[in-house]
Amino acid sequence: MAGDLQPPAPAFSPVPRTLSNIHPPTPETVREAAGRLRRGELVAFPTETVYGLGADATSDNAVAASFAAKDRPANNPLIVHVAGRAEAARLAAFDARAERLAEAFWPGALTLVLRRRAGCPVSARVSAGLDTLAVRVPAHPLALELLGATGLPLAAPSANPSGAVSPTTARHVADGLGERVAMILDGGPCPLGIESTVLGLTAEPVLLRPGGVTAERIEAIVGPLGRATGRATGPATGPASPGMLESHYAPTLPLRLEATGAGGDEALLAFGPEPPPGAALTLNLSPTGDLEEAAANLFAMLRQADRSGLRAIAVVPIPESGLGLAINDRLRHAAAPGG
Ligand code: TXA
Ligand code: MG
Repeated sequence: MAGDLQPPAPAFSPVPRTLSNIHPPTPETVREAAGRLRRGELVAFPTETVYGLGADATSDNAVAASFAAKDRPANNPLIVHVAGRAEAARLAAFDARAERLAEAFWPGALTLVLRRRAGCPVSARVSAGLDTLAVRVPAHPLALELLGATGLPLAAPSANPSGAVSPTTARHVADGLGERVAMILDGGPCPLGIESTVLGLTAEPVLLRPGGVTAERIEAIVGPLGRATGRATGPATGPASPGMLESHYAPTLPLRLEATGAGGDEALLAFGPEPPPGAALTLNLSPTGDLEEAAANLFAMLRQADRSGLRAIAVVPIPESGLGLAINDRLRHAAAPGG
């Protein structure tokens, strides 16, 4: 077109402009990610549960940057991710119960809250004023590769702004944190889709957060679990697992739980073969009623329902057993007012 001020289209495709900081995993991008982490930058990476916002756990500044990027309250401690049990045992004190649990479930979705060892190099900021440390070995090849490449313990909260729905894809991370994260390694959707179980082991075992490893499986190894009361019993004041007290996982639409029907102005999160009719949009967490499938779909479908532009999200009852405990915990937090 004559007089068109647009530059002519290039004859060949130039190097694509970086429209986001999402990178496919290659030896080069993993090396770059490790270098950035060692320099104190933030790198998001997939785990089997959700994407984590990785930071050098031994660096006060990197840990502070993680809290800032998430807008996370300074009293909510982070989980330290390590490459194996030997690395974990250098940071925290393992008793026989912790040994047995690590043997049974690591790498995997179980976080152990243990006493810090003397000389533990992890920044005190990670523990947010507590004298304990939460550690886990993630079961995702890319996470393990990155841990191996950095040689560092990585503090990694879920890679979402504080209070928002956790990310199970690289795109979710970019949508929530954007440029606040230097680099996002894309490992595809997280296979488990729900965060790790957090188990307090500084006294009798306490379930601080239900998650990917079911309470039943843990009880089979250490016996009955106490439930978090929300308050530490020891000299420390403040919550035993501070993260559990907040409104969390909050979509912007109101959430209606235990729904047995749905309105024409609602999005419905269903479970099982016969979802109640009437919803404007129905997303089935698992048509066959499989809790593992439901956990894997939960956060992505919650986001999709939230984007529907409808009035509210209705959720059918989910069985309160196995992974249902973790799913219902997230849904109750998502429905809590005051996010
Ligand atoms: O699956 C997961 O755990 C994911 C992936 C990335 O590993 N991470 C994750 O981190 O969910 P975050 O920060 O979103 O949740 C950590 C939870 C919070 O509820 C926090 O309060 C609790 O763990 N926590 C961390 N350190 C603790 C400690 N020393 N004592 C008690 N609770 C702790
Ligand atoms: Mg989180």
